[in-house]
Amino acid sequence: MFPVFPPGRSLLVAALSLVLTRLSCSSVPDVPHIATYFGTKTRYEEVNPHLLRDPLSVNRTVLKPPPAERCSPVHLTAVIRHGSRYPTVKNIRRIQKLSELVRTEASGGSETWIQDIRNRWDMWYTEDMDGQLVMKGRDDLRQLAGRLSSLFPALLSEENLRRISFRSSSKHRCVSSVEAFQEGLQELGGGSEPQYRHQLDDELMRFFERCRGYVEGVERNRTALQEVEKFKHGEEMDAVRRKMAARLGLPHHRLTPDLVEAAFFLCSYELAIKSLHSPWCFLFDESDAKVLEYKSDLKQYWKRSHGHVISGLSSCPLFHHVFRTLDKAGRPRRSTDAAPEPASILVGHAETLLPLLSLLGLYKDQTPPTASNYRTQHGRTFRTSLIVPYAANLLFVLYDCQRGPRLQLLVNESPVRFPGLEGEDAPLYRDVRATYRHLLDGCDFHRECEGRAGGRGPNTEL
Ligand SMILES: *[C@@H]1O[C@H](CO)[C@@H](O)[C@H](O)[C@H]1NC(C)=O
Ligand SMILES: *[C@@H]1O[C@H](CO)[C@@H](O)[C@H](O)[C@H]1NC(C)=O
Repeated sequence: MFPVFPPGRSLLVAALSLVLTRLSCSSVPDVPHIATYFGTKTRYEEVNPHLLRDPLSVNRTVLKPPPAERCSPVHLTAVIRHGSRYPTVKNIRRIQKLSELVRTEASGGSETWIQDIRNRWDMWYTEDMDGQLVMKGRDDLRQLAGRLSSLFPALLSEENLRRISFRSSSKHRCVSSVEAFQEGLQELGGGSEPQYRHQLDDELMRFFERCRGYVEGVERNRTALQEVEKFKHGEEMDAVRRKMAARLGLPHHRLTPDLVEAAFFLCSYELAIKSLHSPWCFLFDESDAKVLEYKSDLKQYWKRSHGHVISGLSSCPLFHHVFRTLDKAGRPRRSTDAAPEPASILVGHAETLLPLLSLLGLYKDQTPPTASNYRTQHGRTFRTSLIVPYAANLLFVLYDCQRGPRLQLLVNESPVRFPGLEGEDAPLYRDVRATYRHLLDGCDFHRECEGRAGGRGPNTEL
């Protein structure tokens, strides 16, 4: 197992966290008021707050096959994002820069929290932490496994462990996550040393970096994220920046939009990693947090989702893999045939989940979010804080029912209906297949990703 802290530093870190704990000890279960706006850096508990009371509690009524058809679950495919993690190097450097700026140039404020930022908060992040899974992230996956196995006792049981397939992105945080998930299943049996078994599969879980049309048309395309750039320097962000500069007593030109975001992320990291209410959180009120959340949503929308059709299409290999697995699991069999695979666990990234959700047609609002329509976007369904927090998961539950197999989708353990089949929570599997016929018969990775030089342009049927 990877050591969470490099050896020798753990004592220092423990001492620091003691200091930080004392900073926030006045109010006990103390969650920052802006915790639900952290985008992809949101804790899973913010989406499902009942887990703060009991991390293993499940709500069985989320499974909704028609009661009259006496259905039973026969297969679960779960696409899961890794758990809580350290910042990546890019953000650690920004945090470093911010903390130096504040230490050397900030003059404002007599409030305790400003004193705490200046005098008591220590820059404890180091570059070698680079995106690794933290202890809390292991708990995220272990507890998710526990909950899923109590929702699906016949599928995710200890006895079935050998028959479940586990695939993961090769990134360290994903491998640690798939291991933690298996620990969660093995804890049920109580006892012996956990055993790990998984297959690395970047073709399935990191399809985005292999799709040339996507890399050239979006990732390396300087205009693909222009809405994000415009918003970053627009009036809403500017107001947040001025307020923050005033609170800290900094000349506002010293505070770039990236540094504003670094402070916001600091608040999110200290909560997700250490369950702390960091003094940095006080720099933002709820309306500031909504602006910063929108900035992240804009980025994900234009980089990973409906903003460019190719983003969704780049996930075709994963889409086909999921449906092939479901086809096999739902196929009629004689009593002598081997039982189907009870579950397929696929661990990846927010960048894995968002394109697949987009390809399925989910979270597609009528009006796309842009730099200029912030004020009309409050009711949007595309909110990454709710869709892809740490340990986000998309579940495909296949039931055996009297009228044939049925399929239900859950996102973060809540039911979600298939676009075009909104009448039912768990439509007949053949109806789902009919809805996605165009993708099942097409959605060819090589044609979509290599076929058109430069990839597809922006989504014109927004
Ligand atoms: C359980 O799930 C159902 C269906 O999604 C929902 O309506 C209900 O509010 C949930 N109950 C709790 C206690 O979360
Ligand atoms: C780059 O993105 C812009 C804006 O979405 C789009 O119009 C253009 O076609 C893209 N360029 C390439 C080479 O795909």
